[in-house]
Amino acid sequence: MDVVELEAAHCDALVRFFGGLSEGDLTFIEEEVTDPDVVRSWTSGGSGGRRWVVLDGDGEGQEVAGYVAVRPLPGWSAHVGEVRLVVSPTRRGSGLGRLLARQALVSAVGDGLSKLVVEVVAEQGAALALFTDLGFTGEALLRDHIRDREGHVRDLMVLAHHVDETWAGMATVGLEDALGPDLS
Ligand SMILES: CC(C)(COP(=O)(O)OP(=O)(O)OC[C@H]1O[C@@H](n2cnc3c(N)ncnc32)[C@H](O)[C@@H]1OP(=O)(O)O)[C@@H](O)C(=O)NCCC(=O)NCCS
Repeated sequence: MDVVELEAAHCDALVRFFGGLSEGDLTFIEEEVTDPDVVRSWTSGGSGGRRWVVLDGDGEGQEVAGYVAVRPLPGWSAHVGEVRLVVSPTRRGSGLGRLLARQALVSAVGDGLSKLVVEVVAEQGAALALFTDLGFTGEALLRDHIRDREGHVRDLMVLAHHVDETWAGMATVGLEDALGPDLS
């Protein structure tokens, strides 16, 4: 399956995808994604950042299997991109998360962002493994920072990828090839 940049034609499938996620998964996205107008505004220049989806099937039956967004932070942190990533619960563990995160990183570097951050629940083994392999490292641990649906507090980790510092390491995961010679 391919990762494609979000277009207007994908919006209905993306709204269905978000509508099928649990409340817990939706917290990772942060934006009001169950509102179709919000999702449609993303492809009409109504919000900053770039977004990609993994599509499953063709035509009217096309479904979204995963989603990633990179949104530059406002003001004096405009050089920092925040990553939001979710894969359909039925499709996890088959490499889609890794594929989407890699796309986000390659595009962010190409767009000139010099730092990426992602918030991960501390016990989320898959998310930690995935982002660590792409050169992200722990930058902050916010203790008891979030409350899950059962009311239990959990730690939140902020992972960061400093593009300049990790450039040498990026070659080892093949990102240089993906970016092409003009961007290295
Ligand atoms: C995090 C998430 C995006 C991963 O998506 P995924 O498609 O399952 O990820 P992948 O299949 O690419 O797996 C990536 C790596 O995670 C690890 N992994 C996968 N499932 C795992 C699990 N259940 N426990 C621990 N590690 C796991 C593996 O190391 C895997 O690497 P591998 O390919 O070498 O086996 C997905 O679990 C998700 O949507 N979670 C909820 C939202 C979230 O936490 N987002 C991240 C912060 S924004």
